[in-house]
Amino acid sequence: MPNDTITLSAVPRLRGTIAVPGDKSISHRAVMFNAVAEGNARITNFLTGADCLSTIGCMQALGVQIERSGSDVQVFGRGLRGLRAPASILDCGNSGTTIRLLTGLLAGQNFSATLTGDDSLRSRPMLRVVEPLRRLGAQIDGDEHGKRAPLTIQGQTLHGGEIELTVASAQVKSALLLAGLLADGPLVLFGKIVSRDHTERMLSAMGVDLRVEDDRITLYPPAHPVFPYPLSLRVPGDPSSATFWWVAAAIHPDAEITTTGVCLNPTRTGALDVLRAMGAQITISNQGKEGQEPVGDVTVRSAPLTATEIGGDLIPRLIDEIPVLAVAAAHAHGTTIVRDAGELRAKESDRIATVATELTKLGATVTPTADGLIIEGGGELHGADVESYGDHRLAMTLAVASLTAEGNMTIADPSSASVSYPTFWEHLSQLAD
Ligand code: S3P
Repeated sequence: MPNDTITLSAVPRLRGTIAVPGDKSISHRAVMFNAVAEGNARITNFLTGADCLSTIGCMQALGVQIERSGSDVQVFGRGLRGLRAPASILDCGNSGTTIRLLTGLLAGQNFSATLTGDDSLRSRPMLRVVEPLRRLGAQIDGDEHGKRAPLTIQGQTLHGGEIELTVASAQVKSALLLAGLLADGPLVLFGKIVSRDHTERMLSAMGVDLRVEDDRITLYPPAHPVFPYPLSLRVPGDPSSATFWWVAAAIHPDAEITTTGVCLNPTRTGALDVLRAMGAQITISNQGKEGQEPVGDVTVRSAPLTATEIGGDLIPRLIDEIPVLAVAAAHAHGTTIVRDAGELRAKESDRIATVATELTKLGATVTPTADGLIIEGGGELHGADVESYGDHRLAMTLAVASLTAEGNMTIADPSSASVSYPTFWEHLSQLAD
């Protein structure tokens, strides 16, 4: 694959079975949480994308021994108080999950550390974690008084308390829960607590006393040093990665794709609900459990699609999938409206702007709004020179759009896909073969 551009065109059919790589959110957490566990753990099917490797690099720089062989990872936990001051600035690369969760984990340590990342990460909002952590007693400074990275965290004694979450963000929720592990009293979170819940599931399985009710989450800091227990696990397949193939199969006139072992945690399956509502033909089989997470195989076949509305409580359940769902909407009969998704502007790129700009280049009729997109479906897409803005999900979204577009599409910077899906281009060739 050329490093700088890739040229693609429509394929006559799509067929095959793909085991998408391990889930990004769970991979980050498996390494980070086990790094502060009291013992050793083995993680299999770990996502070897650049983002999760940033988490490994940071935890190693904090004194944790981590050995990786492909997607097998051994973490030698050092306990909640066992991390060491890093010798230099911690580089979180492109990864929002790494920087935000680490900010919470480091807030209550007895040393100081500085976290930074690439241009995209340094432009993303950090006050959403910094401000509530400060209310627990954290001392965090950063660019524009903590609005942006680099962030310097001077470890402090943290206090428990009640914090209202004002953004439905699993990164913010998780940062606070990690800080709460080291606080001197219980932490209660209320407000927008519904977002992906891998942190809650994993910490509970590690023996942390964490209680989830409809409107609040309460975490009691472990009183006994045996907690958290180490947790060996196999990471289930990433539904955010699988959605590229679900949309590809749904829009293509001759397609049948099965993705195996995908995480079907209900906080992550909004894209399946939307595709079903649009008329996609979806079958779920081999349902089971992988550790704390429900999993299954998902098969999608070609079907005519109709427009839908995407908003409200659905948004946190499919926030990362909206770019590729916009491609499905461009193929659907009618006008699809995405609303309540202003969070898209705070992702690896401003995904409201970048999705609208790039899909418009392909002939789609897409209007960006303050908090979403309006997509007039039904027109034919055509090839063009398009950009990924270094945003992995945009690169893969455009590749999916090429599968039915008329003429050639050249995507700049396709290698950004490796942030979350290092084998994306190989899987694409496999399915089109
Ligand atoms: C993630 C949470 C989401 C998501 C990101 C991964 C996580 O971000 O977009 O890709 O692992 O907690 P927000 O918490 O900012 O919504």
